[in-house]
Amino acid sequence: DKKIRIAIDGPAAAGKSTIAKLVAGRLGYTYIDTGAMYRALTHKAIGAGVDLEEAGEVEALLPGTQIILEPGAEGQTVLLDGEDVTGVIRTSAVTNGVSAVSAHAGVRAYMVAEQRRMAREGGVVMDGRDIGTAVLPDAELKVFMTATVEERARRRHLENLARGFDSDLGELAREIAIRDKKDSERPVSPLVRARDAVLLDTTDMTIEDAADAIIRLAGEKV
Ligand code: C5P
Repeated sequence: DKKIRIAIDGPAAAGKSTIAKLVAGRLGYTYIDTGAMYRALTHKAIGAGVDLEEAGEVEALLPGTQIILEPGAEGQTVLLDGEDVTGVIRTSAVTNGVSAVSAHAGVRAYMVAEQRRMAREGGVVMDGRDIGTAVLPDAELKVFMTATVEERARRRHLENLARGFDSDLGELAREIAIRDKKDSERPVSPLVRARDAVLLDTTDMTIEDAADAIIRLAGEKV
């Protein structure tokens, strides 16, 4: 069988990573969480005390930065300059700063080049905001995954509670809406549905149903 490339884009907390991971596992493909790369750089920038809005300051960190996504049983481990940052990149400090970092053209150019390299061999499920439009415009299957902001906030809330984090549903909904707005309005490869992406609204779907739908679509492409 041919090993295709599956691009999954969509707004924050739409279920992309959960579903992409499941699809990758079932197909024997590699799951690549591109948001984790922007998060890792944001974590580094916060630690270095740089102004996240300043392109020059953030981009100056790139030459000395090594971000590695290691596929594992639990999805993936994120290594930043050799250090495991898998957990710390999910904190709200990083979540609320990442859209500023990911808006910089130099940051995107660096990440996109890395991501294309990772997808070279095919057999990947890659999720993010610009995979179908900028990273892999010729991906065999593109999915644009959405859900209402209320449902997305509710899911993230339950996830936070399960992880033992403090969580406020209303605050989450506000943060998600702000992040979507920033990601959709940035000048460089904003979050937008590729013309040839299949729209998948998961508001009333279970994780299993969504994964099944994508696997069915993938079956039509191989
Ligand atoms: O997917 P996740 O929520 O972890 O992504 C974190 C942030 O990284 C997004 O809000 C966006 O600013 C940025 N991102 C991006 N392009 C991608 C993936 C993520 O700009 N392909």
